[in-house]
Amino acid sequence: MTTVNREWLNSLPKVELHLHLEGSLEPELMFELAKRNNTELAFETMAEVREAYQFNNLQDFLDIYYQGANVLKTEVDFYDLTWAYLAKCKQQNVMHVEPFFDPQTHTDRGIKFDTVINGISRALKDGEEKLGISSELILCFLRHLNEEDAFDTLQQAEPFLDKIIGVGLDSSEQGHPPEKFSRVFDRAREMGLLTVAHAGEEGPAEYIWTSINNLKVSRIDHGVRATDDTNLMQYLIDKQLPLTVCPLSNTRLRVFDDMSQHNILDMLKKGVRVTVNSDDPAYFGGYMTENFEALEQALGMTKEQAEQLVRNSIEASFADEKRKQEMLDILNNYFN
Ligand code: HPA
Ligand code: ZN
Repeated sequence: MTTVNREWLNSLPKVELHLHLEGSLEPELMFELAKRNNTELAFETMAEVREAYQFNNLQDFLDIYYQGANVLKTEVDFYDLTWAYLAKCKQQNVMHVEPFFDPQTHTDRGIKFDTVINGISRALKDGEEKLGISSELILCFLRHLNEEDAFDTLQQAEPFLDKIIGVGLDSSEQGHPPEKFSRVFDRAREMGLLTVAHAGEEGPAEYIWTSINNLKVSRIDHGVRATDDTNLMQYLIDKQLPLTVCPLSNTRLRVFDDMSQHNILDMLKKGVRVTVNSDDPAYFGGYMTENFEALEQALGMTKEQAEQLVRNSIEASFADEKRKQEMLDILNNYFN
């Protein structure tokens, strides 16, 4: 019997559905871009970076994450950021990705929307052609900003609808319920976009319900607080509504004190369509392989569970049916 070790997990074919491109900015590239663009950085050494990357909660992280994103200025910067993530995916046998980007983080400091999206989508296209990694891009609205800002961002996205599959909702969850953006999400769906939302990461299970009922989401990002509400758990199981769970993120942001307390495998056993993702890998200590590895080490994840988690991701993805079948075939081959 094959043991579930790092090597096996690394070559396991995988799919990533919850990844913030800005959160894949490694300190090395951050320093390089700061130099390239003559941008002042808050850190001078790697030791200072490591010290800063100790978070007590989501907001602690977001403060550092938005600061880091200030080094991204030109189209090439966004290309390089995206390409570095895809190269990592290639090393870890990730077949398909559905990254998020936060346009408001950039447009609010004077970077043009088209600079951001053109750099990202050119890299995604190269990723498909040169690395064989398929992708769909998701635009996230920052929920700490207001409805009008989100509408304005959606309008800026209109000329680029061929480059995005859907919209999402991220940033500070508590105090910013999904229903704050009901009308924006209505408009996005009218434009033919799919919807997802971060909910039940730090916020209550109620925010998962309102993401479902008001925003009509196809997936919930995080959603680990669903276990607080038995009716919601039953709904998620009955409808097979996917949760994009991020184990290392959850322990780094103290959603769970320790990985041994994480509820992902309990939800999997109950029949919830949970998936494994890295969220902001440059800040949380690992990409896809490391997230799977953490589940093996702390929770004794089996080979069968790893396979089911990937199967869930393929089924929960926004890839077309042909690509989904291709990925299922690749996964089945790995197990034969
Ligand atoms: N939660 C909310 N907003 C975010 C996250 C997250 O985990 N990562 C990047 N923006
Ligand atoms: Zn996230």
